Amino acid sequence: MSASLIYSNSIMTQDELKQAVARAAIDYVVDGEIIGVGTGSTANFFIDELAKIKDRIKGTVASSEATASRLRGHGIPVFDLNEVTSMAVYIDGADEITDSGAMIKGGGAALTREKIVASVSKKFVCIADGSKLVETLGKFPLPVEVIPMARASVMRQLALLGGQPRLRTKAGSDEAFITDNGGEIIDVVGLSITDPVALEEQINQIVGVIAVGLFAKAGANVCLLGTSEGVKTLTF
Ligand code: 5RP
Repeated sequence: MSASLIYSNSIMTQDELKQAVARAAIDYVVDGEIIGVGTGSTANFFIDELAKIKDRIKGTVASSEATASRLRGHGIPVFDLNEVTSMAVYIDGADEITDSGAMIKGGGAALTREKIVASVSKKFVCIADGSKLVETLGKFPLPVEVIPMARASVMRQLALLGGQPRLRTKAGSDEAFITDNGGEIIDVVGLSITDPVALEEQINQIVGVIAVGLFAKAGANVCLLGTSEGVKTLTF
């Protein structure tokens, strides 16, 4: 990893840090291209910044219905990924990121589409406030999207890996949360992920898993990290 810093001197809230990295991410937008856009509060700040320069880009591919609707609300074209062969860059937040660019994502339940859109992009730029940088992944519960009929069998297998699997439910209800893909999310609590690439491969092998929120085999290429000293650029 190498690091550089744009210096700032004021105490900032978490939202201000997210806004700062969202603004900095505009430097990675390639004129005339289609941009992959992530999901979550940091990605939302990025969308609002992107709206200011929307005439410079051809359009976007969205990693969730929520992102697509925010982009369209700003009058930014949203392409179906099936119409796009390659993108210069994918810009998204993360729940945790290490100093080698491995991430946990999926706190916002969009991990599968995020992984798909990122896989078609040449560069992954992660935008995150400084609290997301960790030594070891796993304090944040690891999201795994599953086919609903496989929920219980996948949970049994995830338990064998050492964590405690919990079904994600709709806020204020016992009903399962349903993703944009019709899947359910199992959050695995209590993991200490010392080999993220190996664990990603292992979970991908479980029948019934749609995607795991470990982005380690293909992690971030760049991370713009919002800190009280300014936006740090980590490159991997
Ligand atoms: C959504 C994600 C988000 O990138 C992640 O949850 C971070 O969210 P936020 O920017 O709101 O902190 O993976 O599925």
